[in-house]
Amino acid sequence: MPSGRIKVHDKTFEIFIDESEIQKEVARIAGEINRDLADRDPVFLGILNGAFMFASDLFKQMDFPVQISFLKLASYAGTSSTGTVKQLIGINMDLKDRVVVVIEDIVDTGVTLDTILRQLSGYQPEALIVATFLHKPEATIHKIPLDYVGIRIPNKFVIGYGLDYNGYGRNFKDLYAVVGD
Ligand code: XMP
Ligand code: MG
Repeated sequence: MPSGRIKVHDKTFEIFIDESEIQKEVARIAGEINRDLADRDPVFLGILNGAFMFASDLFKQMDFPVQISFLKLASYAGTSSTGTVKQLIGINMDLKDRVVVVIEDIVDTGVTLDTILRQLSGYQPEALIVATFLHKPEATIHKIPLDYVGIRIPNKFVIGYGLDYNGYGRNFKDLYAVVGD
């Protein structure tokens, strides 16, 4: 296990939440989802890239057959004055009247999740449910109901367990926080 400190580009990170603590919370959420959704035939939509590791660990603990797909938010320059628009891509199944569970790595301001939920609601699902591994409550400006939350963290920049700094660090099984912010 990489312990202590790691350096990514210009920043130093120190271990913040270790693997065993992470896995304890993943198991708790899996138990809640198994209890709540087993009879609702949910479809799980993991948001790439960040949610890949949380999604994988979570799905392995689902004890009923589930449908899984992954989506990505693609940025493109808007033609209007609104500037950058983020479009959810990769939806390849009918979500109408389905119980849709969005799997996210982190909710920070909530802007990203708000964008995702707005776009998904256009497919007329029966329900839109959110499971996020991390939440930074102090930073959240969009008060979106979060149905399942792994760990609430202070407003620090973190990497590991799917999260990156400039594309690096998603691979670590522990979570690291930046030193000095
Ligand atoms: P918002 O503000 O839209 O942010 O809720 C969600 C997206 O911002 C990224 N993000 C982070 N990535 N460490 C990261 O590696 C962090 O501490 C962090 N905070 C926000 C992330 O891509 C997320 O989907
Ligand atoms: Mg990122």
